[in-house]
Amino acid sequence: MDRIAITGGRPLHGEISISGAKNACLTLMPAALLSDEPLELTNVPRLADIEMMTKILVSLGASVELSEQGRRLVITAKKFEQHLAHYDLVRKMRASILVLGPMLAREHEAVVSLPGGCAIGARPVDLHLKGLEKLGADLELRTGYVHAKAPGGLKGAEIDFPFVSVGATENLMMAATLAKGVTVLKNAAKEPEIVDLARCLRKMGAEIDGEGSDVIEIEGVDRLKGASHRVLPDRIELGTYMLAPAITGGEVELIGGKRRLVSALVEKLEEADIEVADTENGMRVKRRNGHIDALDIATSPYPGFPTDLQAQMMALMTLAKGTSRFEETIFENRYMHAPELMRMGAKIDVQGGVAHVHGVERLTGAPVMATDLRASVSLVLAGLAAEGETLVNRVYHLDRGYEQVEDKLRACGAQIERLKD
Ligand code: UD1
Repeated sequence: MDRIAITGGRPLHGEISISGAKNACLTLMPAALLSDEPLELTNVPRLADIEMMTKILVSLGASVELSEQGRRLVITAKKFEQHLAHYDLVRKMRASILVLGPMLAREHEAVVSLPGGCAIGARPVDLHLKGLEKLGADLELRTGYVHAKAPGGLKGAEIDFPFVSVGATENLMMAATLAKGVTVLKNAAKEPEIVDLARCLRKMGAEIDGEGSDVIEIEGVDRLKGASHRVLPDRIELGTYMLAPAITGGEVELIGGKRRLVSALVEKLEEADIEVADTENGMRVKRRNGHIDALDIATSPYPGFPTDLQAQMMALMTLAKGTSRFEETIFENRYMHAPELMRMGAKIDVQGGVAHVHGVERLTGAPVMATDLRASVSLVLAGLAAEGETLVNRVYHLDRGYEQVEDKLRACGAQIERLKD
């Protein structure tokens, strides 16, 4: 397994280009199953998770053409070869459940493996399933698979989510585009990726209103057509790299970065005495007065502070003046980075969903390892600031969500290299 070696302590200076959003792509790709015509996606990031979703779509019978070094995908689901998304593919990536809604809506049947647990918590899919039942689907759970049927097609309904779920909102939004009648999703997720999906579905002929607010209304149509869609920038990649100059003390311009995608982060960075300026091509970040102030952070659904930036922000706060308080409200087990950061000299107390981070003068390099994507990259950030060498193990997590992480950081002066096994 590859590892990443970082010799830290160098302030980063330069530019980093932000790729297309992984999480948007992982829902836009299954949206292609709603039509027998091609869906063209551009600004696609080159990531292991995108390859995994490609494999799942191909296994169902779709063709996926790649061009522009994998940045452009044309997905055509002319007809299905099977209605089964196999455990071997689904278990590797939770977002695979997003093929369920579109396949069921178009084909009136679908068999999809349950994704199972993952390192950051139980992460059930009950909201997806209950929502599809409301749309008239018969669901049966057998041998680890959801067997879904809707013989006469799905029917519009009102679905009031008990709490916000990005994936359930996406799955049901897609399913409802081909259901008979009107579907109203209440307490829907408002993430930019939801808005991006709604825009794409509208280009395909769907009737959708209200995306980006709590209530999304979808009027079903008989069929959807092909379309072309450019994926929005990855706000989590953007936020992660905004933290690189903050933690190392340099100045970096994030090309393609947009403030509105990361407004909760910008607000917190400004509170921590980090300057964020808009530029012609994106945003520029640096420390305002040379130090970092401690912060209180509570994660919450968009437009709140994203759980997917909590680990990276914690890496920054290890070097802040004073004690920071973190509260993770989305996932129950998302502090696996804390003990690893402590191996690098950080002072952190974790009690349940709350972590206190007591800022220290310096971090020191160490061999570290993380068990999820965002935790891994938080260790890379810490390694960039730490004295000496940090060796980040299990890099495959990083490759799921960060395109060319070492190239992007090296271009800003980081001493970072991938060690191949
Ligand atoms: C998406 C993102 C992920 C991000 C998360 C929260 C993708 C591919 N992934 O994941 O990076 O961390 O949003 O912003 O877009 N839940 C249930 N039952 C359900 C569905 C969810 O209990 O049926 C719970 C989850 O366990 C979690 C919370 O709801 O505690 C929010 O999860 P959700 O918003 O659904 O996250 P994902 O869509 O899986």
